[in-house]
Amino acid sequence: MGYQIHFSGRAHAYTEAEIETVVTAMREAEPLTQGRFLQAFEARFREYAGVPHAFAVCNATAALEMAAQLCRFHPGDEVIIPSHTFTATAYPFVKKGAKVVWADIDPETRVVTAETIGRCLSPRTRAIVVVHLYGYAADMPAIMALARERGVLVVEDAAQSLGARVGGRMSGAFGDFGVYSFHSHKNVTTLGEGGMLTLHDPRMAKLVPMLRHNGHCAFDFPRDDYWIPAMGNVDLPEWEGERLWPNNYCLGEIECALGAKLLERVEAINAEKRARAMAFIDGLSDFPELRFHRVDSDRHSYHLLAAEMTNGRRNDFIRRMSREKEIQCVVQYYPLNRYDFYRKAGFGEANCPQADRFFDNMVSFPFHHWLTEAQLETMMQATRDLLRGL
Ligand SMILES: Cc1ncc(COP(=O)(O)O)c(C=O)c1O
Repeated sequence: MGYQIHFSGRAHAYTEAEIETVVTAMREAEPLTQGRFLQAFEARFREYAGVPHAFAVCNATAALEMAAQLCRFHPGDEVIIPSHTFTATAYPFVKKGAKVVWADIDPETRVVTAETIGRCLSPRTRAIVVVHLYGYAADMPAIMALARERGVLVVEDAAQSLGARVGGRMSGAFGDFGVYSFHSHKNVTTLGEGGMLTLHDPRMAKLVPMLRHNGHCAFDFPRDDYWIPAMGNVDLPEWEGERLWPNNYCLGEIECALGAKLLERVEAINAEKRARAMAFIDGLSDFPELRFHRVDSDRHSYHLLAAEMTNGRRNDFIRRMSREKEIQCVVQYYPLNRYDFYRKAGFGEANCPQADRFFDNMVSFPFHHWLTEAQLETMMQATRDLLRGL
């Protein structure tokens, strides 16, 4: 079916300057991976995010895989993860043998809190994964205080929240690990795929380049001939007494060149999306049965524009928006414990009533950056029409 407004898989349109950056990098980059554009992107990202170490990778899932490797799970170790998130938040930890304990969300903010995490802590908890879902940064100071008190590692899945801050500090910069995505859907994208892993521990930071790129490293002894005994070494030192296995999770030079350029615009994109979200939410404020999460500050990047329908008519609403108005709203973040994959892995049980209730009543509006003002107006008008008639 054709839609006048569809739920696009592409979040933004590139400027001519961004296209020019790509074309220049295509002409000049040598090599086409692991070169100077990678160095520049990582340096700019460190500065932007306010973190000491940043590693560009092929996507956020790769960053989560490396974070899970560095967490070192032993049999019986638990990881706390919100049930209301995208699957890539969780399966890297399942692959490393962690036992998943699903945390509930706060009904207002739709992200985990220190309180919902606290209910899941046990003596076996090794790590907590916090997801800044929809682009809203969770209460990291409170979560970090709890985690430090209990000696638990924190991974921030900031895949959707680049630029969202808590008290001026960037989401992703609080935890032991920060994970960002530049996937096609995100507020900025490096040609469809891309990600970043940030961390604070300098010992871990030494390992990541080898972990990311096949174990490649330099020989640590002086050599008279650059090709003897080989061009380079392959190694991966143990991490706290345990062996690590390498990956190839590199991001190419063209994507890195574009990523560095996009960092100049991410604040403006977030601000524009936030202003539009405010206008849309305020324009529908006389329909309290549609509950948005309204945050007029940099705490929210408004990657997505989601609302809860409190009148139990969500499916009717989406159906009529689709069929009568040709506007494609969607439903997002099937609680992970309901998926076959997690049920078969033994993680089908969750005590997450708020996540379940929210998922069963939520609606996500098309909200890519290249929506026109006229389309937003049309979508608001269509929403009004239907809510009056439902
Ligand atoms: C919350 C969340 N975590 C992780 C990911 C995985 O990101 P990527 O596609 O860059 O691997 C995504 C989205 O794609 C996401 O929305």
